[in-house]
Parts: sequence; C-alpha cells; structure tokens
Amino acid sequence: MNPSISAKDRLIFALDVPDREGAEKYVRLLGDVVGCFKIGLELFIKEGPDVLKMVKENSSASIFLDLKLHDIPATVRSALRSATTHGVRFITIHGSDGESILQTAAEVKDSGLEVLAVTVLTSISESQLGALGYKDNLSLSQLVLDRARCAEKSGCAGVICSGEEVAAIKNICGAKFKAIVPGVRPAWGEVKADDQSRIVTPKGAIANGADLIVVGRPIRDAKEPAVAAGKIIAEIESTMTNLG
Ligand code: C5P
Repeated sequence: MNPSISAKDRLIFALDVPDREGAEKYVRLLGDVVGCFKIGLELFIKEGPDVLKMVKENSSASIFLDLKLHDIPATVRSALRSATTHGVRFITIHGSDGESILQTAAEVKDSGLEVLAVTVLTSISESQLGALGYKDNLSLSQLVLDRARCAEKSGCAGVICSGEEVAAIKNICGAKFKAIVPGVRPAWGEVKADDQSRIVTPKGAIANGADLIVVGRPIRDAKEPAVAAGKIIAEIESTMTNLG
C-alpha cells in the first residue's frame, strides 16, 4: 500500500446523477470531504464539459472522467488527446481489446492525464463468462489478471478492478501500478436492487491493496451523504493504520 495517499484522497465519489443541478448539490456537499469526483456517461452526455468546470469552481478535488472508451486505436488516441484539454486526472478505457488500444495511454502520459483500463466490469460474475463467449473454463480472475498485465505493459497508469482481484494484480504488475476499486459496499449500507456482483467493503478493498476506491450509491442515497462519506474515510484511515 502506498502510504503517501491520504484516506480522503483514496475516496472517489461517483457523481451518478442525471444533471448539473443534482451534481452541484453533491459537489457543494462533498467538495471538501472526498478526494475525487467521478463523472460518468450519464452526466457527461447530458451536460458536456461544462460540468467539469462546475466541479473545479466548487471543489479542489480531482476529477475522474469515467467514459470507458471503447473504439479503434485511432479514435481512442484522438479522444484521449481531447481529454487532455479538460484538466482531469483520470480517464478510463476498456481493457478488453489488447495492446494497440491500451498503448494510446502512454502517448498522453506527459500531459498528466492518467489512463486506467477497465479489466472486467464489477457487475460481471464468473457464471456469466460462458454466455459472453469466453470458453475453455477461463476463470474471471485469470481474465482480469491477463488484462491488467497487458495494461501495465502498454503504459496505462493503472486498472479498474474489483477488490477481490487487487492483491494478485499488485503482485504481478507492481506496487506503483494503480488499482482503483469500484463495487465497494460498506457493511452498514444497503443498496436497493444492487447490480454490483464482485463487492468488497472499504476495509477489504484497502487491506487488499487498493490505491483508491469508488463509491456511488452508498453515499449518494444515504440520508446524510457527507456523514456516509466521512464514515468511509474513517474506515479507510483505520485500515491504513492497522496495516502500518
Ligand atoms: O453506486 P456504485 O457504488 O455501484 O457506483 C460504482 C461506480 O463505479 C459507477 O459509477 C460505475 O459506473 C463505476 N464502475 C463500476 N465497475 C467498473 C468500472 C466502473 O462499477 N468496473
């Protein structure tokens, strides 16, 4: 575990809301609490880059543009170049299509934009792999590891993976290669009709070696989102202390 990252900076809040008005409410509430805001497809498609400006105006937290780019290398390359003009810290690309796409990450490294490869979505479970066309008893953890290794070799800053896979990824790809973990569910929070499959607690994710965790609904839908975020940060902090 990298001890230089504070507990606050390890918490990314997923701004999964439909519009700027909803986003601004959470940014004002959590702008001094969390280390990073993640803006995904729902909000970015509706509001465009203006929403990034709004986050910067209301918070010093960094921005994670979670667009999960999935296209031919030339298009991903151009999209990443466009993203460098927005002053965001992280962006995601899908890690399923091999080196030629993942290598575009290395080309924007100097801009400060950190490209993360999505290994396998945390909503996918092992029992779904056969139906998705993966045969020959390929295990989900092996698929995640193969994609993480390819992302690391290609020059990505890190991967998005579940808390269950993070230790093995760190083992193979090294401590500096970032592992960012969504699908995080605090023991005290309940998410209605949850679509996440490979879930872990904040404590479990950090103990396994996650650099940062992504939390959406357990904070967004809490009665008091700032209190929920504070509880998660406290859990991260105490886990870091116990790990020494
Ligand atoms: O509400 P919840 O905590 O499940 O939000 C998780 C966030 O992380 C969502 O914005 C989702 O798009 C994102 N994510 C994920 N699994 C991945 C990559 C991103 O859940 N593999």
